[in-house]
Amino acid sequence: MPQKSEKSDRPQVKLFHSTARGEIYHGDSLDLLATRLRPASVDLIMTSPPFGLVRKKEYGNVDADKYVEWFKPFAEAFKRVLKPSGSLVIDIGGAWNPGEPTRSLYHYELLISLCKESNFHLAQEFFWWNPARLPTPAEWVTVRRVRVKDAINCIWWLSPTPWPKASNKRVLQSYSDSMKGLLVHGYKPQMRPSGHDISDKFQNDNGGSIPPNLIAAAHTESNSAYIRYCTDKKLKPHPARFPSEVPEFFIRMLTDINDLVVDPFAGSCVTGEAAERTKRKWICCELRDDYLQGALGRFQTEDSPTAAISEPSYKTAGGQEKDYYRISKPGGFWNGVEGPPLAADGGFKRPPKPEKKLKTTTYLPHRSPRPEQLALMDARDRRTGKGKFGG
Ligand SMILES: C[S@@+](CC[C@H](N)C(=O)[O-])C[C@H]1O[C@@H](n2cnc3c(N)ncnc32)[C@H](O)[C@@H]1O
Repeated sequence: MPQKSEKSDRPQVKLFHSTARGEIYHGDSLDLLATRLRPASVDLIMTSPPFGLVRKKEYGNVDADKYVEWFKPFAEAFKRVLKPSGSLVIDIGGAWNPGEPTRSLYHYELLISLCKESNFHLAQEFFWWNPARLPTPAEWVTVRRVRVKDAINCIWWLSPTPWPKASNKRVLQSYSDSMKGLLVHGYKPQMRPSGHDISDKFQNDNGGSIPPNLIAAAHTESNSAYIRYCTDKKLKPHPARFPSEVPEFFIRMLTDINDLVVDPFAGSCVTGEAAERTKRKWICCELRDDYLQGALGRFQTEDSPTAAISEPSYKTAGGQEKDYYRISKPGGFWNGVEGPPLAADGGFKRPPKPEKKLKTTTYLPHRSPRPEQLALMDARDRRTGKGKFGG
């Protein structure tokens, strides 16, 4: 266990492990930030702090209503160590209020406090969509059916100045098939329903498309070197990891080779792994020794076997585009059959458990649009701004 410091009862940080480019510290990151990092020395703080959860998780989450106060000393320490060109990127999950289907505002309150009190600038808000997220909390989503799946985390990209260094050219995505078609066959310049004038510059091949502020990354890691290492050593994998695509996206977009990346709430050191792979210097700090024992599994070889280096998009055997998630346009089931009227109490009274052999509701058969209809829908959308079945 790390020793307690004389000034406070916070344990002092100790070097736990080092690699060619990085260092892992065991202990309280407030101590690390104060004692091991010089002012204006860090290019990127990339982190996922403990989330404010009302139901406490095993790694000591902080209550939602005390969260902003708890975070303040970290915000001040981050401000001190960041370079003026640096960035602070915080991945933060939402929380449900106890006992009712409403959401806590704690992560928005944190964002406002970081900007209004700690004088950070909001460079951009991002959302990490986890397509593999389960439909929870079951009570609101699958039992009473009064809320939908909560499948995104907010990611606040903040900076000490309005001009952090950044380039979206570092995170381009491969063009979709339809864009590739446009690049080959051309596009007739025209006004969009939104009023945007699409000029023929739209046809330039810029090496890839500019990604949106939605990062789609399924959290389905089950056979990585990290998981295998934890299994071999009988260690419990960290329960709240982010997939390495999340830190890697920001490391690539916001830092250069040999820049310094810090994760003060490192957990299983995914940020360190992504930084090592992308040849940045890095420092990770984590309170719990057992999480760090597992994190060692990420640094067993020089080239991490869990490397998530993206391949260019190509077709799978089934003809589908790899590396793309499909998001349905709303409306596929809007066929006029709505079922029983909505419960006037908003789901307050719990629905009775369905009997075992209850006949399921019959919906009118859904006609899936054929590819040529889809193409038609797209063309019509461009002209009218309305979908064929929606609008
Ligand atoms: C959401 S988890 C981070 C998970 C990490 N991003 C990953 O993918 O493995 C937050 C971590 O912060 C750690 N933590 C909480 N307070 C800390 C502190 N003051 N100093 C260092 N680590 C802390 C917790 O033990 C927990 O492992």
